[in-house]
Amino acid sequence: MNKQAIGIFDSGIGGTSIWKEIHTLLPNEDTIYLADSFNAPYGPKGKEAIINLSIKNTEYLINKGCKLIVVACNTATTNAIDYLRDTYKVPFIGIEPAIKPAALQTKNNAIGILATKGTLSSALFSKTSGIFASNKNVIEQVGEGIVELIEKGKLQSEEMKVLLKTYLKPMIDANIDYLVLGCTHYPYLIPLLVELLPSHVKIIDSGEAVARQTKTILKENNLLDTESFKSNNHFYTNGDPSIMQLLLNSKFNVEYLDF
Ligand code: DGL
Repeated sequence: MNKQAIGIFDSGIGGTSIWKEIHTLLPNEDTIYLADSFNAPYGPKGKEAIINLSIKNTEYLINKGCKLIVVACNTATTNAIDYLRDTYKVPFIGIEPAIKPAALQTKNNAIGILATKGTLSSALFSKTSGIFASNKNVIEQVGEGIVELIEKGKLQSEEMKVLLKTYLKPMIDANIDYLVLGCTHYPYLIPLLVELLPSHVKIIDSGEAVARQTKTILKENNLLDTESFKSNNHFYTNGDPSIMQLLLNSKFNVEYLDF
């Protein structure tokens, strides 16, 4: 069992930012990454649709024999992870916006959160935000249109710049000192965000924490691969493999899969 792969899924190619953190921390673990780009974005869909898509992705990875599943998508985690944990036996790792560290570290008492509509409107996000940031000025912003542009490979485009400028303005006006990236697609925008934000604003996401939690849960369940010295990593998408390949710096082969 411990030589079986870690399964990772996202609504698209953004979760590769999480895969990179996991692969860096656990380089000898086999992985299978599933990008449901055909159905991206999940953000504007309702809870039921997000749960159904998460079930489809999970069952694909379970049928491939994955020993643990990382839901590398804030939108799927905040809407579907309770259902997935109640339904399947494998351990699940989810990702949520890093509101807690931002709320603990802000000096200006003002933090910005950029995430999808599905994440910001979820009960799980409201709960976490209520516990950790109720006494802070939290500027929430739906990143409408961002995932679509990233899925098209338009990371550094003029359209992206215009969108981000609009979304960041209320945050800059509120003098935030932390920007939380609440969507796994967004770490790919960090170079552009650094350009557009005042230099004192720190950008945080949950990628590293997810990798650490993956390691902890594998260890606790006796699932760590302690024998292999290198890993096999498979990437599947029902979208355009060439764009995902670019995000992986062309180091890995991406296969088209009709699922
Ligand atoms: N990467 C997904 C997330 O973390 C994007 C969601 C979407 O497809 O809208 O939320």
